[in-house]
Amino acid sequence: MYKLLKSFASNKSNDINNAIKEITKKAPFRYMATPYGHNMSVAMTSCGDFGWISNREGYYYVKTDPVSEELWPSMPDLFKDLAISAAKEAGFDNFNPDCCLINRYGIKSRLSLHQDRDEKDFSQPIVSFSFGLIGIFQFGGLERTTKPQDFYLENGDAFVWGGNDRMRYHGIKRIVIGKDPVFGDNRINLTFRKAI
Ligand code: SIN
Ligand code: FE2
Repeated sequence: MYKLLKSFASNKSNDINNAIKEITKKAPFRYMATPYGHNMSVAMTSCGDFGWISNREGYYYVKTDPVSEELWPSMPDLFKDLAISAAKEAGFDNFNPDCCLINRYGIKSRLSLHQDRDEKDFSQPIVSFSFGLIGIFQFGGLERTTKPQDFYLENGDAFVWGGNDRMRYHGIKRIVIGKDPVFGDNRINLTFRKAI
């Protein structure tokens, strides 16, 4: 089960941008290391009860931000409400996110094909929102070798996947160069998850 909800939050750009500015005062964007020994080209931070981190040892959901050693900033109601309503619209009535991973892509950022598999309960979907520049989202199969389909995710689009599509490989092939009136030369992606 998956669904692309075009322009679901396109009137919320300014509010989202302001909320991210507050969150990143406490938990700044950072380029995390991967277990493969390079730094990601996507800058990340989190809000909610848990945040997602990567380091040389692996990937984890953790209660405190390793940079500040404080709890992650709480998830704004605006975020939670959007995530729950998009999940509902896509057929997931009981979505209860405890983590929002915030990704910032510059025009050279990419995210290679991967599965989201660090969460405890795979019956809960992944709810993703895109803002700012267009990102070419690759949505593949349950095997890495399946040729992915490309979706051009634009400002305000939501993409929800779960159920028997929950473990599909996905990534960001590239960002389309441009200037967004709110987000400038960045793409912002929020992914809501039930981590624990
Ligand atoms: C992710 O897979 O965590 C992010 C996907 C996206 O940026 O659209
Ligand atoms: Fe992902």
